[in-house]
Amino acid sequence: MAQFFPETLIQEIMDKNDIVDVVSSYVSMKRSGTTLKGLCPFHKEKTPSFTVSSDKQLYYCFGCSNGGTVINFIMQAENLDFTETVKYLAERANVDLSRFEGDGGAETTHLRSIIYKINSESAKFFYNCLFGEPGQAAREYLIGRELSKGIINKFGIGYAPEGNLLLAHLRQQGFDDNSIIQSGVVVKNDEGNVYDRFRNRVIFPIIDRRKNIIGFGGRVLGDGIPKYLNSPETAAFNKSYNLFGLNFAKSTKDDYLILVEGYTDVISLHQNKITSAVATLGTALTPEQARLIKRIKGEVVIAYDSDEAGQKATKRAIELLAGEDVVVRVLTMGDCKDPDDYIKKHGKGAFENQLINAKVQIEYKISKIQEKYNLSNIDEKVKYINELAAEFAKIKSPVEREVYISKISDETGVSADSILSEVKRSLAVTERKTKMEAFKATASVGVIKNINPKKANVIRAQKQLLNLISIDKNIYKMTINNLSDDDFEEGTIRDLFNELKIIYESGALPEVKLIVAQASNAAEIAEILHDNQNITDKQLAAKELIGLIAKEARLKQMFKAVKDDEIPSGQKLLELDRYLRKEVGNDK
Ligand code: UTP
Ligand code: MN
Repeated sequence: MAQFFPETLIQEIMDKNDIVDVVSSYVSMKRSGTTLKGLCPFHKEKTPSFTVSSDKQLYYCFGCSNGGTVINFIMQAENLDFTETVKYLAERANVDLSRFEGDGGAETTHLRSIIYKINSESAKFFYNCLFGEPGQAAREYLIGRELSKGIINKFGIGYAPEGNLLLAHLRQQGFDDNSIIQSGVVVKNDEGNVYDRFRNRVIFPIIDRRKNIIGFGGRVLGDGIPKYLNSPETAAFNKSYNLFGLNFAKSTKDDYLILVEGYTDVISLHQNKITSAVATLGTALTPEQARLIKRIKGEVVIAYDSDEAGQKATKRAIELLAGEDVVVRVLTMGDCKDPDDYIKKHGKGAFENQLINAKVQIEYKISKIQEKYNLSNIDEKVKYINELAAEFAKIKSPVEREVYISKISDETGVSADSILSEVKRSLAVTERKTKMEAFKATASVGVIKNINPKKANVIRAQKQLLNLISIDKNIYKMTINNLSDDDFEEGTIRDLFNELKIIYESGALPEVKLIVAQASNAAEIAEILHDNQNITDKQLAAKELIGLIAKEARLKQMFKAVKDDEIPSGQKLLELDRYLRKEVGNDK
């Protein structure tokens, strides 16, 4: 999937997608000069700390330290990876990407974009059929399922009529048979006859995160078989990498996604303003989908069907998601078949209660293990405890482990100590890991203690100076006359200084948005470069900053000398301390 895009393309994409235009459709902002301010879309806040610089084409939030170019913004806002984002913005600005792909790649991309068009045309056709004369029965079916006009529009639900009307329609729109077949909306049989895949079915378009229609699911109106017919895998449709409803759920304000089995469950929940529901596409959850989920939310509530197949699928999904370190909770449907059924019978409020009460994975596991044993039988009770102990050993938090042990002790009458010693047997490995973590934690506290508190001031000065360097060649010259690169803090700051140096030395002028675009730590760089500092005399400011940094650099050398015993410590250290306090100032 990863793809290489040349710098010129990234530049073109940024040039053609003005950050103010793009961000404005997500955030309402007030302008003052070249800076716009608004409420950050990436964290909850009441006073605006999200800023966009129109001349630098960068954004930065002082509240959550999120920042970067228009590319970083879309990556965050739309939950897309870099490649997907470049494609998204290319499409938005009508930039043709096919010239940057290998021959095979370009061909697939071309085919994919034709399939998107065919699918989009087909979806319109299905929608019009639903509300036209042939759609009468389908409309009644949807009304019977209590789906509102609003939700039908939102999900673009349609109806595929009998016959080969779609094929005729697409031909009439100028699509060639080969492309139409490749899109999967029609089928070519062994005799070479071409006909509509979906007939007399309610159609659910499957839409990806970039809002392309990638395929369809079609349901019979009654009890026919198969109940659902789905688009085949095509150049545009990979079932393992997508989830139904994700185009909406990716922007949910909830902290979790709800994973359900059916298209209709997703739609029904969304109709009830439960906006975090997604479903797999007629297959079991795949590892790719688990990773996709992980990128969007760290928590999942599984609400699969209550039948045996659904419970089996739940176990598999738990394993996959837990493997991705996603917190998994499981919602139980009680007497109902599936979420759609549940919410119809008991209402939105009851479902939301179930959501809150959905058991975390371990509780769900306990209840499942419990179901297997007859606890009035001593032998079975022992087995039950042993199996639980193995599960408890996997719990990372000792406190949480204790909670469950005492709970089970109360329930079974087996002493907590006995359960604990059973757990300990399984615990050896887990415990070693915990110890390692504790060791690491102490080590990092040690590191923090050693940090010179005054250092923050110097770092701030270095950042400010870099900002000034990026906009003024004279300040760059002043800097290299007084400082060398190892006077800058190692890491991001020094790297940025060196990058600016390379640009100036090559005779060019830095373009900050390009620097940020190419950085792996875009937010950090954006924080440094985005600000249009309200400094009247930039030269004077730079001179002071350079002085401060130079002093700190000297000080550092002295410290190092003391440490290396080149200078006797004692008195010298005291002197250094006084110097430090006076010259570098207290950190505020
Ligand atoms: P269900 O049979 O639970 O369907 O299958 P559902 O969504 O609850 O449908 P309704 O409420 O009866 O209309 C769950 C999912 O499995 C896939 C579909 O994605 C469906 O939404 N499936 C099911 C198929 O792909 N083909 C089938 O024949 C049946
Ligand atoms: Mn179902």
